[in-house]
Amino acid sequence: MADTSAIIDRLRRVVGDRVIVDTDRMASYTTDWTGRFRGTTVAVVRPGTTAEVAGVVRACRELGVALVPQGGNTGLVGGGVPLHGEVVLTLQGMRSLSPVDGTAGQVTAEAGVTLAAVQQAARSAGWEYGVDLASRDSATVGGMVATNAGGTRVLRHGDTRAQVLGVEAVLGTGAVLSHLGGLIKDNTGYHLPGLFCGSEGTLAVVTAARLRLVPALPERTVAVLAFATVTDAVAASVLFRRSLTTLDAAELFLAPGLDLVCSVTGLPAPFDRRYPAYLLVEAADRSDPTGALAEVTGSVGGVLDVAVATGAHRRAELWRYREAHTEAINTLGPPHKLDVTLPLGSLAAFIDDIPGTVRSVSASARTWLFGHIGDGNVHVNVTGVAPDDERVDGAVLHRVAAAGGSISAEHGIGAAKRRWLTLSRSAEEIHAFGAVKRALDPDGILNPHVLLPEQAGAR
Ligand code: MLT
Ligand code: ZN
Repeated sequence: MADTSAIIDRLRRVVGDRVIVDTDRMASYTTDWTGRFRGTTVAVVRPGTTAEVAGVVRACRELGVALVPQGGNTGLVGGGVPLHGEVVLTLQGMRSLSPVDGTAGQVTAEAGVTLAAVQQAARSAGWEYGVDLASRDSATVGGMVATNAGGTRVLRHGDTRAQVLGVEAVLGTGAVLSHLGGLIKDNTGYHLPGLFCGSEGTLAVVTAARLRLVPALPERTVAVLAFATVTDAVAASVLFRRSLTTLDAAELFLAPGLDLVCSVTGLPAPFDRRYPAYLLVEAADRSDPTGALAEVTGSVGGVLDVAVATGAHRRAELWRYREAHTEAINTLGPPHKLDVTLPLGSLAAFIDDIPGTVRSVSASARTWLFGHIGDGNVHVNVTGVAPDDERVDGAVLHRVAAAGGSISAEHGIGAAKRRWLTLSRSAEEIHAFGAVKRALDPDGILNPHVLLPEQAGAR
């Protein structure tokens, strides 16, 4: 492998002075958002065009140096930081957003465009973007494609893969693929955009995406319902999904998480009393959905209290109780983030049991549970465990697999769950993954230390 100065010189020949080598300036690129994953690198390179990305990839290939593509660095599984000394290829320099195509209901965004910018552009043109998540101001299109980001609207509009109609991307060979026409029916072979969604930068560096937009539904109502048990909250979410055609989101949080959010943010508690479990639902339509939401709420069993918001300000306040969980938990030190899906029939028992499972492995650990209950997706966050102590991770993920769940619902595998991929994928599937990886990245330079077990992606 080339020495540091040869790498820096070669990268400078591609992007000029947009190569960061100063340790302080590189710090925000080498540590993940949670602080659990800390890496090092010789350089952070910031190309401004797809041609420059291709030049960087070709340079790294010639030098035999691995690279980690990075968007807004909001990933939660250590998949976007250089844990093995890789060069960091930040896509933050690619921020062009096409005008919204109001006829097609589509927009083309370069990889470094934030989710919030896409949402804003869509809204200004009378459309909406179907994906939303709390890190919208930092999360970028390239990262969201690479991780197949989910979020709070999946039950209505699907995940990122369901929004992506085309991509531009650079393979591990430096070849550029560009298919951004946005035709909805385009049945001409392998669906590469779908393949790149969730590939975690291991197959290609996504430089732009053609995104479908959804009709704007400006009338919104949010309700937080309180329950005595998680079982009641899950049953209520099923009823909402079945009966409320305007349902946009169904999110769960529990008393300890709400207490923490209120103490960290200073928000007042939503109710005079403390209840064990809370379900946040949002309905959205062209006309006021409050009546329909109230009607379904009236037929839900076990509701102990309800807070309803129609105005934008109060709606945002109710959402804060759920969305602020991530930042509140991070104040306790780097958490282990175990984002999992369970079959809905097993979800309540899992949520009730998992704190005990965690405690049996680590007495100092504390478990925080919340998530997108409408999708069967619960975020198991564990604090009080050293960043490199993986015993809790193993215990939780084995329990998930035993219950027929998936070890990653929406965050991906990254570095954090790589050793447990076999719990959710067969040897044959992983072999096929490896064959695809070798075909598109023959020298194994694109994010080689995530997702696939070490041997599966090797040449
Ligand atoms: C969320 O939905 O808030 C995040 O995906 C979960 C997390 O921070 O663990
Ligand atoms: Zn989530």
